Amino acid sequence: MGRELIIAIDGPSGAGKSTLSKALAENLGYLQINTGAMYRCVALAAARNNIDLDDGAALGSLAASLSIRFERDGGDERVLLDGEDVSEAIRTPENSLRTSRVSAHLAVRQAMLEQQRRLGREGGVVLEGRDIGTVVFPEAQVKFFLDATAAERGRRRWLELKEKGLEVDLQQTITEVETRDAADSAREHAPLSRAEDAVTIDATALGVDEVLALMLITVQQRRNGSRGLSGGEK
Ligand code: DC
Repeated sequence: MGRELIIAIDGPSGAGKSTLSKALAENLGYLQINTGAMYRCVALAAARNNIDLDDGAALGSLAASLSIRFERDGGDERVLLDGEDVSEAIRTPENSLRTSRVSAHLAVRQAMLEQQRRLGREGGVVLEGRDIGTVVFPEAQVKFFLDATAAERGRRRWLELKEKGLEVDLQQTITEVETRDAADSAREHAPLSRAEDAVTIDATALGVDEVLALMLITVQQRRNGSRGLSGGEK
């Protein structure tokens, strides 16, 4: 076994980051940290406490006060907010839109950054998000930028919501994905962007197993000390 790596998976919503980080973490015996779920918890707590989504200072103190933990329930990852299982509550379309606003505040990002660094610093982790390879762990040994077309990402999100019994419109879901990505990419602090040394994978036409195989090749190459697929490559 090589040394324990920090693996960053960034990319827009619906590209398959959660599925792939889970598969990769399971394959390597690593811990999976879903940083989007952490921001989603802050947004849910803000709504429950009637905090104005434009009040960065109040949201920052709230974020710093929350206890967010991940637990495995069989194959499922459960998200615990102050001990309560909020795995479903954080994934409604309303909370998704709210999260995009909440995560734009610098004070919120600083509170989350501290927690994420604490969780990941020992290595042996797969972290997924928008700014892992650029801001949270720029020193990560393996960085992926997972992408897919907006239409495909919207379709996947729609299927996911449908499977959970939520009745949503396909076109509306695609539009929401696009709106959220535009906001996540345009924000001032830690916007969604590709690290220069990230390996880009376009997953539009690839299945989970194919993407996982590509990722495992890169991980193996890094463990062997080779740069392998170089950053910036398509
Ligand atoms: O990955 P996700 O769709 O669950 O993320 C929810 C929101 O959180 C998304 O709008 C972007 C934001 N986010 C972020 O700003 N930084 C991260 N590292 C992860 C997510």
